[in-house]
Amino acid sequence: MTFLLARRRSPWATALLLFLALIAVGGMYAVASGSMRAEATTPTASTTQIEEGRELFLVGCSTCHGLNADGAFQPDGTIAGPTLIGVGAASVNFNVSTGRMPLAAPGAQAKRKPPIYSDEETAALAAYIASLAPGPEIPTPDMYDTTGITPEEIALGGQLFRANCASCHNFAGEGGTLTDGKYAPSLTETEPRNVYQAMLLGPQNMPNFPDTTLRQEDKRAIIGYIEALRETPNSGGIDAGRLGPVTEGIVVWTVGLGALIAVAIWIGVKAK
Ligand code: HEC
Ligand code: HEC
Repeated sequence: MTFLLARRRSPWATALLLFLALIAVGGMYAVASGSMRAEATTPTASTTQIEEGRELFLVGCSTCHGLNADGAFQPDGTIAGPTLIGVGAASVNFNVSTGRMPLAAPGAQAKRKPPIYSDEETAALAAYIASLAPGPEIPTPDMYDTTGITPEEIALGGQLFRANCASCHNFAGEGGTLTDGKYAPSLTETEPRNVYQAMLLGPQNMPNFPDTTLRQEDKRAIIGYIEALRETPNSGGIDAGRLGPVTEGIVVWTVGLGALIAVAIWIGVKAK
């Protein structure tokens, strides 16, 4: 910064500062929008498992998702359930194992509730949907298992969590409300596999974080951080969402970025 300030009258410095400010804003936007879809992969499952999944689907899911899982409408023309062609085994596993599906009744947001299908049934449902079209696969334990994770990786996970997740899920992973009666749930009880899948898929109003945005090892670091949060007892006193060291981060971030933009504008004005 001092280097840039010292040379502030050069038109190059003006351009460079504006450029840096744009990159900073652009980076924030990219984090907020995370729009790319995860890579598709080919499913592998036995024919009997797929057949079993299809039967479970016809009984428990087809009223809303259609007999061929390609979506269905309600009598009034609104969507009863979206198409599941191409959503992949991961989306079925996430939505069924967190109890979000089957949806009990149409509402603002499909909520987490105790699952009603066993692990085998959930796997069969996932195999059936994956047999219709390729889509994101269920992550394997080496991708989310955090045994042997180092303190450095957990620290990195904390940084990534504050940058990518805390705006909606709160700094302590306790969740928070969004607009229109929607909310980001607490992460304190979510299984590591489902934390991974949520990042991969971006369910409902959550953006997704494909490997191009958060690499596989970054996702594992974030999971390690969330687990460390769970294990850290609250030290008593007022529970302000464990804001402590994070507030400093926000101040540095906001003041730093604000200053950068202010300087850029000031130089722009001076240059004229
Ligand atoms: C009462 C209607 C209803 C029933 C029953 C139901 N669903 Fe859904 N499902 C929905 C709706 C509505 C959504 C969209 C939720 C949203 O995104 O807001 C959805 C979303 C999903 C998704 C996420 C799709 C995506 O884009 O990734 C999956 C997977 C899914 N359902 C699977 C199932 C399975 C499997 C069953 C049966 C065990 C089931 N659903 C039963 C209504 C239903
Ligand atoms: C723009 C706000 C937003 C951001 C940013 C965000 N999430 Fe979410 N997250 C949500 C919403 C909304 C849901 C609920 C979706 C649903 O119910 O299907 C959710 C659901 C989840 C769930 C499912 C929890 C459960 O057990 O039901 C997990 C895990 C999760 N998010 C983790 C993350 C992680 C990790 C990050 C950062 C890499 C992140 N989220 C970033 C809004 C957000």
